[in-house]
Amino acid sequence: MLLAGKKILLGVTGSIAAYKSAFLIRLLVKNGAEVKVVMTSDAKEFITPLTLATLSKNPVLSSFSSSGVGTWNNHVELGLWADLLLIAPATANTIGKMANGICDNLLLAVYLSARCKTFIAPGMDLDMHAHPAVTANLKKLQSFGHIVLEAEDGELASGLNGKGRMAEPEHILEKITNALTDDTLLKGKRVLVTAGPTYENIDPVRFIGNHSSGKMGFALAEDFAAHGAQVILITGPTDEKHHHPNIKRIDVVSAADMFNTTVKEFRKSQVAVMSAAVADFTPQKVEIRKIKKSSTGLTLKLKKTKDILAELGKNKTRNQVLVGFALETDNEIENAKKKLHNKNLDFIVLNSLKNKGSGFKHETNQVTVIDKNLGTSTFPLKSKQEVARDIVNKVIQLLA
Ligand code: CTP
Repeated sequence: MLLAGKKILLGVTGSIAAYKSAFLIRLLVKNGAEVKVVMTSDAKEFITPLTLATLSKNPVLSSFSSSGVGTWNNHVELGLWADLLLIAPATANTIGKMANGICDNLLLAVYLSARCKTFIAPGMDLDMHAHPAVTANLKKLQSFGHIVLEAEDGELASGLNGKGRMAEPEHILEKITNALTDDTLLKGKRVLVTAGPTYENIDPVRFIGNHSSGKMGFALAEDFAAHGAQVILITGPTDEKHHHPNIKRIDVVSAADMFNTTVKEFRKSQVAVMSAAVADFTPQKVEIRKIKKSSTGLTLKLKKTKDILAELGKNKTRNQVLVGFALETDNEIENAKKKLHNKNLDFIVLNSLKNKGSGFKHETNQVTVIDKNLGTSTFPLKSKQEVARDIVNKVIQLLA
């Protein structure tokens, strides 16, 4: 779990985006975090404390004392408890008060007491968001070392369209996970990751491709980068986007392009993880003109592509770590072990297509990792981000 054992204090303020806090809490808890929620009184107009208490499995606090029971909600203790303070959504009002040290509610007192990293996810209408006062206040908060999770573009509750929507919970989760990851573990290491499918042209309009989405490779690139590595992400055609500034992305199309780029980049890298689904065959000849229909059918002549992973395995030095993927339908473990040996890998990640929710296009994956000494670990079905974390941890162990 990406946030196992992490303590997150979530501040919810009075913006319509407060309804998204429920999804955000679920995501954080699902990823192993312990979550405590502090709400402003206006936030309660948008979502009930009961909803957030149920999802966070902790009482929700909003005033300095709980009347009737005579308990003081100690803002100092709360501030010190947290590994990370996240204010989502943050209204213009709360942002303004934070920027100016105003402390007229429990959340602001917690904010002033907290020593941990602070993340702010603004959520408001576009003109409020674009107002110079809000811009100046957000800049001031950044100058304090806080991270502003930029508002996103899109439809707003007012019916207007523009920038002001609170960042989506999935995007917030990614930023928080990165912030709570030890970014010194792979500092100074150059890591090569291949991702996605390759397209082998038949003629100017057609190609042979496969169902790979690139999700696994992109999750790997993000996690290596979060650990401090300089990542070279060589990817075939995909809709996936990379986010971390430590990732240098190189787009390629065919297996031959991927071969040339990867072999060149491998020489300068300490780690290579080949998660791309590279075509094994490519048309012998690419037609310059579009092939016309014929009544007799069409036979395509294919030739073998060069195996990138095997080539890297041949040239690997003792200080380089090489990881391959295998997708097998029969004799899975035996075939994967053969691949591991033949391609001179440090470990191989076996994807099983037999498991529901695993493989192409899914958000989840179920893998078995086999290492050089043939030690085998089978992992449960997990999100691709969590699978990426397991693989990155294994690489870190090998480098240590
Ligand atoms: N791979 C590669 N270059 C290729 C084909 C595959 O680098 N031309 C890499 C993939 O990125 C993956 C691994 O090889 O890490 C395994 O791919 P897979 O298609 O499962 O195996 P193959 O070696 O192609 O063997 P086979 O198709 O016979 O199972």
